[in-house]
Amino acid sequence: MKVIVFGGDGFCGWPTTLRLAKAGHKVMVVDNLSRRAIDDELSSGSLTKIANIRDRVAAAQEKIGDVEFCYLDIAAQPSELRDLIKDFLPDAVVQFAEQRAAPYSMIGDRERRYTVDNNIVGTHNICSAIVDVKPDTHIIHLGTMGVYGYSKKFGKIPEGYLGINITQTKEDTEILYPANPGSVYHMTKCLDQLIFQFYNKNWGLKITDLHQGIVWGVETPETKLDTRLVNRFDYDGIYGTVLNRFISQAANNVPLTVYGTGGQSRAFIHISDTAECIKLSVENDVFDNSRVRIFNQVSEVKSVAGLAEVLRKIYNADVQFVDNPRKELAENELEVSNSGLRSLGFEPVMLDEALIDDVRFVADQSKVNFNKNNVLTSPKW
Ligand SMILES: NC(=O)c1ccc[n+]([C@@H]2O[C@H](COP(=O)([O-])OP(=O)(O)OC[C@H]3O[C@@H](n4cnc5c(N)ncnc54)[C@H](O)[C@@H]3O)[C@@H](O)[C@H]2O)c1
Repeated sequence: MKVIVFGGDGFCGWPTTLRLAKAGHKVMVVDNLSRRAIDDELSSGSLTKIANIRDRVAAAQEKIGDVEFCYLDIAAQPSELRDLIKDFLPDAVVQFAEQRAAPYSMIGDRERRYTVDNNIVGTHNICSAIVDVKPDTHIIHLGTMGVYGYSKKFGKIPEGYLGINITQTKEDTEILYPANPGSVYHMTKCLDQLIFQFYNKNWGLKITDLHQGIVWGVETPETKLDTRLVNRFDYDGIYGTVLNRFISQAANNVPLTVYGTGGQSRAFIHISDTAECIKLSVENDVFDNSRVRIFNQVSEVKSVAGLAEVLRKIYNADVQFVDNPRKELAENELEVSNSGLRSLGFEPVMLDEALIDDVRFVADQSKVNFNKNNVLTSPKW
């Protein structure tokens, strides 16, 4: 198949590109390299040494398969985006190209507006171009578990749609799960959902929205094949996801910084499983298109304190409880369905199994780049 990966230079997009190319698909990576620019802006960056995009793509062509690159800003260059889709004629597009850090979106006015403008406009530009240029293209979008909020108020979290009974008519029906964002970034993912509902209802666009858990880990079988293919690894207080921050702290013998009591439960997935789930979604593209297909792309649920405990036991790491910079419940329970992707053959990697290798790799890579001052940099909200 021909697949465009928007945001294919990023943490999830690059390993996914390689997984798709390995499976024999022809992949076009589209990226404006804005994440590399934000690294400079924040004086932070990947703990692993990542090759420039030219070298990455050359290595992918040598070692893996058919990968090309196009430098394009999907929010700011809608006509170039349309031309690209018209020329490449993709069977599927994968939309990773959004500003993805909740803390970054809460820094201030500039970052709030950038996150909304970039994420909503970019996603809408893709839908709008596809309607005119190639309406049978399958759109796969990375949403987040954060669209649901984190509670068991409505029971186990279903895949996108909540079964309800209407009091007035006594009718049973399903509605899009009530959105409950916890940051401007999460708000953009909730708004993306409405864009998809409308484009599916009005033009019948074929859309899969993947509500992904927090991604952890760094390597996949494909990124290990050449040093130029290595994936990025964020460990700072703004872009570092919680388990990756803990992994880098354990690898560098500094205390694991748990926000608040650590009683927040969250859903997690390993980076190699992210790539696998996208591949499964791309390849299984025959489904009931009368509504947006929504899957929860998660492997397991753990509390933040529970995660710290796993690392403390294996690595004898110290744990430090710090004030929670985020406005969120101190503690919550969470139960999440992932039956959709499992029905397509997804067999998740669980945390304890893969953790040891990832910590070793990160420890090795950290010797030069780990900067303790980047650990507690989250803004407060
Ligand atoms: N990392 C996680 O834990 C996680 C969890 C849930 C959902 N997601 C979602 O997955 C997607 C990818 O996340 P990631 O961790 O790989 O983020 P990332 O920041 O590493 O990658 C995003 C990529 O998109 C590019 N990009 C951003 N705006 C663009 C634009 N306007 N035009 C072209 N390229 C643009 C960036 O340069 C970057 O390479 C995001 O949408 C994110 O919300 C990530």
